[in-house]
Amino acid sequence: MILLNEKTITQSLLTKRPDFLFDLHLFDSIDSTNLYLKELSSTLGVAICCAEMQTQGRGRFGRHWHSPFGENIYCSSRWHFKNDVSKLSGLSLVTSLAVLAMLNDLCHSPHLKIKWPNDILWNNKKLSGSLIELLPESNNRIPVIIGIGLNVNTDTQKYPLVEKPWCSLYEITHHHFDRNEIIVNLMIYLDHYLNHDLNYFMEEWNQFDYLVGKRIKVLQGLTTLTGTARGINSLGQLILEDELGVTHILSSGDTSLHET
Ligand code: BTN
Repeated sequence: MILLNEKTITQSLLTKRPDFLFDLHLFDSIDSTNLYLKELSSTLGVAICCAEMQTQGRGRFGRHWHSPFGENIYCSSRWHFKNDVSKLSGLSLVTSLAVLAMLNDLCHSPHLKIKWPNDILWNNKKLSGSLIELLPESNNRIPVIIGIGLNVNTDTQKYPLVEKPWCSLYEITHHHFDRNEIIVNLMIYLDHYLNHDLNYFMEEWNQFDYLVGKRIKVLQGLTTLTGTARGINSLGQLILEDELGVTHILSSGDTSLHET
């Protein structure tokens, strides 16, 4: 098992992108890399926090994110954006596109898709998720924490009893990966994708949209909506056409296929 190494990541990132300003915080164990960056005082460039394991890894909707030692990637980074709705609203989708582009470089597979807003699936099983948190504006900029969980070297057969189907790069390729290099590439792809807003990547989104044309259900708090997914609009909102032909525009929610 190759462990995460601060020097390896720093040197590789500096070699590939000498202009990228960042500071790296690496831990053997931490509660949550997102939480750490929430409390870290402001830094000049992009603050990056990675850990070998998380004791309180968090997913969307307050869910737990399984974070065993030394196998996967738990990586958060803090970026700053202008307070611009068109950019901020599409952020989770643009993040997913960045992760997917990085993955396609690593193990090109036609089965890699994005389930709105930010799950990366392979063969209908979850490979990666991201948790995006906006912090209060400071100096006319909104700090945004982008936390990415990516299953890399875990042998999923060791954990048969999980609620939802999930997979790892190991399951896809039967290879173990050096996570240091994946983290470096993640940062490079994120930096590129976050420089544009969602409109720039609309075609790419349509290419990898897992839900489009499928019957789905969307949980929003206590409400469940069902219908057919009709893609997204320019703000990254989901377009859902219900059984009566009424169109709903959704900004958030937990999506899944609606099997009947
Ligand atoms: C989800 O799919 O629900 C989002 C999962 C996000 C998990 C990552 S792991 C790194 C960062 N730290 C956390 O506590 N959560 C995110």
